[in-house]
Amino acid sequence: MCGIVGYVGPGDTLEVLTSGLKRLEYRGYDSAGVAVLDDYGEMHVRKRSGKLARLVELLDDQPIAATGTGIGHTRWATHGGPTDVNAHPHLGDDGKLALIHNGIVENFAELKAEIDAAGIELVSETDTEVVAALLGLEVSRTGDLETAFRAVVKRLHGTFTLLAMHRDDPARVYAARHSSPLVVGLGDGENFLGSDVAAFVGYTRRAVAVEEDNIAIITPDSVRIIDFDGAPVSFEEYEVAWNTDAADKGGWDSFMAKEISEQPDAVANTVRGRVVDGHIEIDELTALGDAPLQAIDRIIIVACGTASYAGQIGAYAIEQWARVPVSVELSHEFRYREPVLTDRTMVISVSQSGETMDTMMAVKYAKERGVTTVSVCNTQSASIPRESDAAVYTHAGPEVAVASTKAFTAQITALYLIGLHLGRVRGTLTEADEAAAILAFESLPGHVAEAVATHEQIAQLAHWMADTRSVLFLGRHVGYPTALEGALKLKEIAYIHAEGFAAGELKHGPIALIDHGQPVFVLVPSPRQSPVMHSKVESKIQEMRARGARVIAIVENGDTLVLPFADDVIRLPLVDSIFEPIVQVVPLQWFALELATAKGLDVDQPRNLAKSVTVE
Ligand code: M6R
Repeated sequence: MCGIVGYVGPGDTLEVLTSGLKRLEYRGYDSAGVAVLDDYGEMHVRKRSGKLARLVELLDDQPIAATGTGIGHTRWATHGGPTDVNAHPHLGDDGKLALIHNGIVENFAELKAEIDAAGIELVSETDTEVVAALLGLEVSRTGDLETAFRAVVKRLHGTFTLLAMHRDDPARVYAARHSSPLVVGLGDGENFLGSDVAAFVGYTRRAVAVEEDNIAIITPDSVRIIDFDGAPVSFEEYEVAWNTDAADKGGWDSFMAKEISEQPDAVANTVRGRVVDGHIEIDELTALGDAPLQAIDRIIIVACGTASYAGQIGAYAIEQWARVPVSVELSHEFRYREPVLTDRTMVISVSQSGETMDTMMAVKYAKERGVTTVSVCNTQSASIPRESDAAVYTHAGPEVAVASTKAFTAQITALYLIGLHLGRVRGTLTEADEAAAILAFESLPGHVAEAVATHEQIAQLAHWMADTRSVLFLGRHVGYPTALEGALKLKEIAYIHAEGFAAGELKHGPIALIDHGQPVFVLVPSPRQSPVMHSKVESKIQEMRARGARVIAIVENGDTLVLPFADDVIRLPLVDSIFEPIVQVVPLQWFALELATAKGLDVDQPRNLAKSVTVE
């Protein structure tokens, strides 16, 4: 899950590389490094452990007069700790070539034995340096970087995007991909490479997605794509839908704060264009034809982390509207247990990045077994949507903070739209239900904006609770996965023990955790629409209160029933019950952000994590 950037052209190479790395830093921030050539054709590497800012300091202290070719890397450590020496780029061929890598080389021990036998001394603990050394050996043998590069990538097992440049071939960067992302940016007299378009969107919005097991070779004036055997591959360019403004903080202290506040638009943009003549119509599903959608007898949603909680919420709505059984599985559990799949199964993957390796492998597994695969994804032309039969994009805009927020609410929205589309096509959705859902979607962005406006109240609460060591979250029905998401947010950015529970499960064990002062967020269902569930949750509140819990109740405006038993009350606008997660999660996101901020933590780049998890 590292970020890679490559450049050839007349521009300011170090500026291109470091600005690209800044936008890719969400992919990993254990170290950063660049390799560039100078006017005399000498290779220079600068690299440092820690965040990109440390590399920029190093470049200020030790400037390089770079010419127009360079590669840059931001690392999430796998092989070898996050040290200066393990940072990329790594050198081969006596320092004449530089290489960066995203992924894991699984047969590195076997390859290393070869390098040891050749008497080459490696300085780092990384699998990448082994590849750099191997490439160096091949270059000396063949005298040609392209031939050598092809020979080496064919020998690697595991996952990789590799970028390589050589002093003797100064105006070219070579890139290969196998199960890791790679895109080319097309400029005017300059070209770019990146893990995603964020690497170069400040310079060009014309992009080419490099397909699996292909090699891209860029010069200032040309882009050539070949397969690992050297056969030419044709490619199509596309225009990136967002610009650099969308990927900047826009006046907020953090990307996460900006992204929480963008949720009204994320929801509205995901619905836009999908209500046609009073019906929900998702073109990408229509393209599959109605017959396969009518035939499906089971849906499995595969996803990880926050996306899996969106999947759990989506499952309630899809079952309700499309009357087809839906199960939700963590992608990494799915394929290793030999799931029962038939040609009437549909697998829906949910992924913000579209690059999560576990989810990618689950989709491939399903596809190989003849299952219809649909991807819910936020990143245009990412690997998972390209691998799937249909891609239903969320239009949340780029999400940079490691903690997912606007992608989550957009994913729920997209899954609801899928449920409604399937319900219409399968004849299980009543006209009244479809009309009610369309009305709900119309008012939803406004309601989400009201939820966003709870920020100040939540900030105060978080300030008072800055020393809290454990927080519990309780919900029922769609409130249960929302509670899980609230707990995940707190764990990942505030490093606080947090757990989410189904309210009805409390009495089966978790209530033993309740002690004096234990904070519990309770997602209270609407008393108007779900009086039975409301009263059951209300009794849980009383049971916890009787045991000393500090109850923070998230209620709909006008719910006075729980007031006597709650220590704090957060009021949210009235929405249809099934839509509650999209507003209820917002104060939970603010709470995690504000608590992390109160503890002085970096909310955008929490320790040990990376945004896009491209290793299994
Ligand atoms: O890009 P994806 O949606 O596939 O990512 C899945 C998870 O890694 C992701 O949601 C993760 O749990 C987030 N850090 C949660 O905030």
